[in-house]
Amino acid sequence: MAQRKPKRDDRLEVEVERVDERGLGVGRAQHEAGEFRVALRRALAGERVVAQVLRRRGEKIEGRLLEVLRASGERVSPPCRHYGACGGCALQDLRYAAQLAAKREIVERALRRERIEVAVEPVIGSANELHYRNKMDFTFGTRRWVEPGEAEGVQRDFAVGLHPREQFRKVLDVERCEIQPEPFDAILASARRLALEQRLVAWDLVRHEGLLRHIVLRRSVATGEILVQLTTSSESPEQVGPYVAALLAAHPQITTLVQAINSRGATVAMGERELVLHGSGAIRERLAGLWYRVSAASFFQTNTAQAERLVEVTLEEARLAGRERVLDLYCGAGTLTLPLARKATHVQGVELVEAAVEDARRNAEENGIANVTFSAGDVLAWFGSAGASECDVMVVDPPRAGLHPKVVELLARAAARRMVYMSCHIASAARDIAALAPAGWRATRARPVDLFPQTPHVECVLTLERAP
Ligand SMILES: C[S@@+](CC[C@H](N)C(=O)[O-])C[C@H]1O[C@@H](n2cnc3c(N)ncnc32)[C@H](O)[C@@H]1O
Repeated sequence: MAQRKPKRDDRLEVEVERVDERGLGVGRAQHEAGEFRVALRRALAGERVVAQVLRRRGEKIEGRLLEVLRASGERVSPPCRHYGACGGCALQDLRYAAQLAAKREIVERALRRERIEVAVEPVIGSANELHYRNKMDFTFGTRRWVEPGEAEGVQRDFAVGLHPREQFRKVLDVERCEIQPEPFDAILASARRLALEQRLVAWDLVRHEGLLRHIVLRRSVATGEILVQLTTSSESPEQVGPYVAALLAAHPQITTLVQAINSRGATVAMGERELVLHGSGAIRERLAGLWYRVSAASFFQTNTAQAERLVEVTLEEARLAGRERVLDLYCGAGTLTLPLARKATHVQGVELVEAAVEDARRNAEENGIANVTFSAGDVLAWFGSAGASECDVMVVDPPRAGLHPKVVELLARAAARRMVYMSCHIASAARDIAALAPAGWRATRARPVDLFPQTPHVECVLTLERAP
């Protein structure tokens, strides 16, 4: 007779083998019905743990950690008070050096899965394991995540913070976040206190009504300037005006404040319209010896110190001798474009977000860099009209989803013989690189850089070459 397979709430003993790209410990459990793969939070490679079954699909089980029977020597006590409930920073139980080893393995496995044969170098670690982010995006909500053991009768219809794991309608009130700069804790606390005092209503993520939607904080490491972007569902100056005035009075270190208006359902901090309510609408940051203007809508690497390493690695891999024409696709505000331009004949940057392109142009001008051209628009459309026949080296830094299949085709046929592909999502990079292989492109180096300590995310710089 067939044995009964594990079902919800059963307990299993699991030998954990590795940490995966979601930050889950993955291992095997022996059961009377056979061997099962179990994935669970907060379980580390080399540990033996007891898991409670949450769900099973075929031979794969998602579990909850109940007990650690044999702990890893790399287990440490997590620094964050919200760890466990909060959806971010899933690797806090792991010593930092072991986080780096786990990330290298994540990159190796993703490349192997696509049959890409390249040695992955050790991950370049961050000097700051905490407080390294220069930007945080907090959400307002009407359904506050209630911590177990919290007192009855506390207000539950207002919160500002981060989403708890897999709970996109709820919001965890963040008191302290260990990966953000310390001044952000106090600004976030004031944003909460003042909204409650002034009886402003948070956006309801289900009913799509309310006023306050997001608060994004950005800080320049070089100058200490702080940009606040407040996203609201409508302009509502009679409510937003006094709120902003009180926030600025409480925190004079806020150098600029932008209101973004987003009336649509999608929960993004980016608005349909922006109003600069205080200051210049941007902060100035220094990176790789250059000054950058970063406005609210522009992408900017979130870990300034490690972005320096990223620029260094990119320059090393681009191997420019000063004669090359370079194409920088998905160039943002020019973080890579400008350092590349100092070593090339010309760099063409392409970027979708108009405001980022404006920043990039201004950044080039302010740094006295004239051998760059920026085009605003979709990379695919730009390629269709301009082509890349004139380029020697291509630098490609797409968003997490990777490249559109048609962009892969265009890159495959481009004249360049060297490509530096940078990605914060190695699975999509591996897919794209595998798709480039039939055109003769081969990955020759893989150099991960840790931009995101405490989280399972990893940035990887991949060098591709094409034989003549
Ligand atoms: C990972 S960021 C890289 C930015 C830049 N290379 C840097 O290091 O700061 C990706 C950029 O791609 C842009 N982007 C997203 N989709 C795009 C598209 N279809 N065409 C052009 N740019 C796009 C985003 O606005 C963002 O600035």
